[in-house]
Amino acid sequence: MLNVAVIGDIHSNHLAFKAVIEAIEKAQVDQILFLGDYLTDCAYPEKTMMYLYALRENYPCFFVRGNREEYLLQMQAGELPKRRCSSAGSVLYTYERITGKDLDFFNKMPIARQVTFQDLPPVAICHGSPFATREHMYPGTESLSKAFSVLKTDVVIAGHNHHRSYSLENGKEYFNPDSVAAIPGTPGFARYGWLTGENGKWRFSFRSAAFDNKAAADEIRQSGLQDYANVYAKAVQKSLLTGKNFVFDCAVLAHKLAMKAGETIIPLQLPEIYWEAAAQQLNL
Ligand SMILES: [Fe+2]
Repeated sequence: MLNVAVIGDIHSNHLAFKAVIEAIEKAQVDQILFLGDYLTDCAYPEKTMMYLYALRENYPCFFVRGNREEYLLQMQAGELPKRRCSSAGSVLYTYERITGKDLDFFNKMPIARQVTFQDLPPVAICHGSPFATREHMYPGTESLSKAFSVLKTDVVIAGHNHHRSYSLENGKEYFNPDSVAAIPGTPGFARYGWLTGENGKWRFSFRSAAFDNKAAADEIRQSGLQDYANVYAKAVQKSLLTGKNFVFDCAVLAHKLAMKAGETIIPLQLPEIYWEAAAQQLNL
């Protein structure tokens, strides 16, 4: 029997990540698949990196890059402004706290890869889709059908959506374990996936591990992240405490307000006034 943990969308929530590590080690994990978005949103990214490197030393680990790692690499390349604001402040806060070694690690990661196991069906992993880290795949969509044909496996595992899902269609299985960060989700419960390989077949299950969500929210203020990312940081805190997706709702509303005002939308460069207007409407 082979036990494989699937870990996606940590978003620097090192308290949630530590809870998951303790749970998978207790359950005698053999190998770990990582789905990207290791960093940004929560505080002290260096702690998440420390756990990642320690796991890599102790278990066979397979990594893909998420869109958040791409933002960090874009910042390194000078393609993203280094500004304290709701749009890019969380990326800047993280960028200033990680090392060249971390950026090299992300740079070497593929956005999709096949993982093979003895006597078990091969599995493909990606963050968003095999075509783009920011693409969303859901069961029954064209993007998922295309992913199966390109990845050439009967099992595709992805993250990014922060949405638990499993589907089986025409012998092809899709699995998304949701986010370790627990944004959104039941407050204080990190979510991850578990694959049990036996007799040439995989069994998929969703698991969760309790963590101190109030401490994770408090750290955003204490660490100074709040000063970098203003409204966005407040949305992350409220999401951690309530389990509702204030991060998504606030970003969508801020973009809508900007478009209504005739702004040209440039990714990660939305003027602060629209974030503030959205925050007021959402009572952040
Ligand atoms: Fe993502």
